[in-house]
Amino acid sequence: MRPTSKMIPLMVAGGIFTVIIGFVLVVLFISWFSNPPFGLGNASAQPIAFPHTVHVVDNNIQCEFCHRNVTKGDAATVPAVEQCLFCHKDISGRTSQAQTEIAKVQQYGSDEEPIDWERVHRLPDHVRFVHEAHIRYFTSDLDTEGASGQRYDINGNEVNRPYSIAETCSICHGDVGSMEEVQPKDGQSLKMGTCLDCHRDNNVPTDCTICHK
Ligand code: HEC
Ligand code: HEC
Ligand code: HEC
Ligand code: HEC
Ligand code: HEC
Repeated sequence: MRPTSKMIPLMVAGGIFTVIIGFVLVVLFISWFSNPPFGLGNASAQPIAFPHTVHVVDNNIQCEFCHRNVTKGDAATVPAVEQCLFCHKDISGRTSQAQTEIAKVQQYGSDEEPIDWERVHRLPDHVRFVHEAHIRYFTSDLDTEGASGQRYDINGNEVNRPYSIAETCSICHGDVGSMEEVQPKDGQSLKMGTCLDCHRDNNVPTDCTICHK
């Protein structure tokens, strides 16, 4: 049967429909077998809506005041509830939203329960990462690091002055201080290739055993 002029638009529409369904199936297939599907997935909702904005931008609290181990060791660490109560025994919030969320913090404190924060960034157990070395490198004076004194960020752009601690965090994490809710930096997967590229750019050894236990 020859297609009549009435059937052709129907056939075209059918073709487009098949392509769309095919695309959706492929995307579902990829996300089913790779979790997270593209780079880091979005983190689950936190038990308390903790806004970095209010603390970092509005109240000028430094990253390392809360992430106390970040300039000292491997893990940055997330503050224990006692550290929150240092301020929140007294500060109960002005808006009703703030009051509701801060009341939860105080409740964890009086129950002596740790806050079960959801992890946003997590490498597999066989990988070693050291915050301290990275912070020290990018914040130190230019003539103290590397033979040529040249440094490169995660995009291979030259870094030609010592960074502040907060600027150094943003190389890998983005501008957390302006986030209501921490999510991985856009387009940043922190996969092995990203680590290796930056290590090569900065003449850091890339032996497997540096990062793998
Ligand atoms: C008042 C304390 C406080 C300050 C100041 C603070 N943070 Fe946080 N940060 C937290 C808490 C609590 C969490 C866990 C909850 C969450 O993920 O939002 C967190 C989570 C994070 C995470 C995600 C951790 C993960 O699970 O992977 C990153 C990255 C981070 N902070 C970076 C920063 C940077 C960069 C700064 C400075 C610009 C900063 N923080 C300032 C308390 C703080
Ligand atoms: C150095 C003091 C300080 C520390 C430490 C601190 N906060 Fe705050 N926090 C504040 C201030 C100031 C506000 C603003 C309160 C207001 O004006 O409503 C605030 C607001 C909040 C709010 C309400 C935000 C909103 O407006 O919705 C939450 C929730 C909160 N803090 C949780 C935490 C948690 C959890 C910790 C510990 C990880 C923590 N804070 C540590 C000072 C602090
Ligand atoms: C070179 C990249 C890089 C830089 C720079 C960096 N981080 Fe991280 N951060 C990571 C990686 C990778 C992880 C996941 C580590 C893991 O799972 O072992 C992580 C995890 C974290 C976590 C959650 C786990 C933990 O270590 O407690 C926090 C909080 C955090 N970073 C805060 C910071 C802060 C604050 C800064 C700046 C002072 C910073 N990071 C700078 C790459 C970086
Ligand atoms: C923005 C650039 C950059 C990125 C991205 C980066 N690194 Fe590094 N890393 C460095 C530099 C520079 C050093 C050397 C610091 C020094 O001179 O001590 C280093 C050192 C290290 C060390 C050795 C620390 C010690 O002193 O024992 C480890 C382990 C490491 N990185 C792991 C990682 C892993 C894992 C990732 C990816 C998740 C990563 N790095 C991503 C720049 C980077
Ligand atoms: C600068 C840090 C770094 C170095 C050096 C490094 N790796 Fe990795 N590697 C990682 C990180 C981070 C991951 C986890 C994220 C991922 O799967 O990409 C990883 C994951 C892996 C995995 C698991 C991949 C998977 O699918 O789970 C293998 C295998 C591996 N690395 C082998 C090696 C070998 C072999 C070398 C030496 C030639 C090496 N790595 C050097 C950081 C590094």
